[in-house]
Amino acid sequence: MSAIKRIAVFTSGGDAPGMNAAIRAVVRTATHYGLHVHGIKRGYQGMIENDVIRLEARDVANIIQRGGTILKTARSKDFTTPAGRAKAYDTLRAHDIDACVAIGGDGTYTGAMVFTQEYDVPFIGLPGTIDNDIYGTDYTIGYDTAVNTAIEAVDRIRDTADSHNRLFFVEVMGRHAGFIALSAGIGGGAGCILVPEIETSIEGLCNLLKKGVYHNKLFSIVIVAEGNRNGGATEIARKVQEQFDYYDSKVAIIGHMQRGGAPTALDRLIASQLGFAAVERLLVGEKNVALGLVNNKVIGTPFEEAIKIKKYIDKDLMRMADILSV
Ligand code: F6P
Repeated sequence: MSAIKRIAVFTSGGDAPGMNAAIRAVVRTATHYGLHVHGIKRGYQGMIENDVIRLEARDVANIIQRGGTILKTARSKDFTTPAGRAKAYDTLRAHDIDACVAIGGDGTYTGAMVFTQEYDVPFIGLPGTIDNDIYGTDYTIGYDTAVNTAIEAVDRIRDTADSHNRLFFVEVMGRHAGFIALSAGIGGGAGCILVPEIETSIEGLCNLLKKGVYHNKLFSIVIVAEGNRNGGATEIARKVQEQFDYYDSKVAIIGHMQRGGAPTALDRLIASQLGFAAVERLLVGEKNVALGLVNNKVIGTPFEEAIKIKKYIDKDLMRMADILSV
């Protein structure tokens, strides 16, 4: 018999499509095993402010298909202070919460790591971020939806770029990671993909575009991850235009559209698998790990490792994208 009788689930950091499916899986699995479940609203901030609700199986009906998070989310500055975390602990004690499932990205994991070093409350982390920049999982919850949304936008831009023979710079999300840019670039047939992880000079980009002109490319699409070292799409478009003005160029920033919308089948499946596993693992005593899917198997990675080890984009895919783009 597990000592865990009451658990809490919360979402934290940037929202991601599929977070609701994960909440649903946690609540329903926990209910199945006779546990009481609480939902903490607005992530760590709600934990500090005692913004806690009871969640039963019916409370998570009809949310598997919804983007966003029914528990709301926040990036809490207060939780980075010992006083904030002490208040958060008081909230957990007030509700007799024995363990937590935290759904979010690296900031969420950092909060969980620090908190569990100070207080003896078991935590399980689930990777909920569109950025896919979490070590210990092939895919994060929300990434697939974001990529599909970006590709849909690129497809639409492609129509108008083709009609007007224009060069488009399309900016996608990814402050520190180029996963969305790389996948949306390959799937959207981009002429060039700029990611934060790899240095590309403006001169190099212009040469690539010139090569395209030489190969009779009448229009082109450059995908720019927002965290690219040369700046965002607007900045890069300006710099390119100064050196190479063959095309009439335009900029499209997809922005937060990538964070919303109904989760794809893959995101719902991943979220369900991980939410289910989170509860089962807590019940057998596993704690303070981030769960992920690697080769379709659920694995646990200690928070320290999940935070410290950087997940790199696949350079072979970048090479392939270059070859396919000509
Ligand atoms: O969710 C991750 C992320 O989408 C990043 O790619 C982006 O830079 C950031 O969040 C923006 O978040 P916010 O608008 O919440 O500050």
